[in-house]
Amino acid sequence: MTRIFSGVKPTGHLTLGNYLGAVRQWAEVDQYRADSLFSIVDLHALTVEHDPGRVRRLSRQAATLLLASGIDPERATVFVQSHVDEHARLSYLLECVATDGEMRRMIQYKEKAARERARGGSVRLSLLTYPVLMAADILAYRADEVPVGDDQTQHVELTRDLAERFNQRYGPTFVVPRATPPKVAARVMDLQDPTSKMGKSHEAGAGIVYLLDEPDVVRKKILRAVTDSGSEAVFDRDAKPGVSNLLEILAACRGGSPEALSGVYESYGALKADAAEAVVELLRPLRERHKELMADPSYVEEVLRRGAERAREMARPTVDGAYRAIGLLPAA
Ligand code: TYM
Repeated sequence: MTRIFSGVKPTGHLTLGNYLGAVRQWAEVDQYRADSLFSIVDLHALTVEHDPGRVRRLSRQAATLLLASGIDPERATVFVQSHVDEHARLSYLLECVATDGEMRRMIQYKEKAARERARGGSVRLSLLTYPVLMAADILAYRADEVPVGDDQTQHVELTRDLAERFNQRYGPTFVVPRATPPKVAARVMDLQDPTSKMGKSHEAGAGIVYLLDEPDVVRKKILRAVTDSGSEAVFDRDAKPGVSNLLEILAACRGGSPEALSGVYESYGALKADAAEAVVELLRPLRERHKELMADPSYVEEVLRRGAERAREMARPTVDGAYRAIGLLPAA
């Protein structure tokens, strides 16, 4: 059976980008067709300046939102990365097959390091090695597929390289995985700055729809989205990034393609109004289920406890095998 691994990082409240680019396909498709693991990858949240209490709160919230989005813990394994030691154990071994040049070439590293430096901060070493830990997340479970948005495909490519290199040098140990981004909305853009990604850790919230925003807030944000010059609502990412983003969001909500909606709207206003309603409707059940789950936090805790147990069992043989293959003496 196909094995799937993916994760979300608790660095901010989950956004419409996270949902359309990743979580929705985990809940609607992936968990039914594959042996799936979905993780709250909290170790990754420590790579930039963080507040300990906030990371803990966001981790719980992310877990609750994954369940609210319809991921069924009887089908899929939902767990917190730091509850399973195998991720950190394997990450170190992979650091011994990766090179610093490979790490420095990662686009996200370059962007985030530049942002930290611009703020006058220093760059944590873990930000540089982030993609190695991500590779460990995936390889520990011998995952075949990694459903992620566009921004993570470079990291999955690196994971493939590391798996191939390890297998070649030390014998067949890992499955070489592949990224499976969604056809539509693999990169949802910021509503106020449609040339950059809608990202949960951006400070300004006006261009970001959060999954737990009140319906009226969602409407307001979409109705105030930046559009482009001219008045034709055509799909053209380069010439019309704002309008194209709205067409893409609307298409993703309705299950069609943005090309099919191109030119259908007579005005930007009408497109925004439909996109706003489509998003509000899409998120409604998720919000309701989230409210129910919040009433019983012990349920979420129990799901995470069982998930970590299952994950540990799955990862341990592979990681133990990697320790032996690379030349470490097994403990007696
Ligand atoms: P993270 O937490 O930034 O995002 C979680 C998922 O949401 C996708 N995504 C988007 N998709 C479309 N449009 C957007 N604007 C948008 N923003 C985010 C991301 O591509 C991702 O699929 N490094 C990962 C977490 C991670 C991981 C892993 C993922 C750690 N280990 C192993 C897969 C497998 C991250 O920062 O995702």
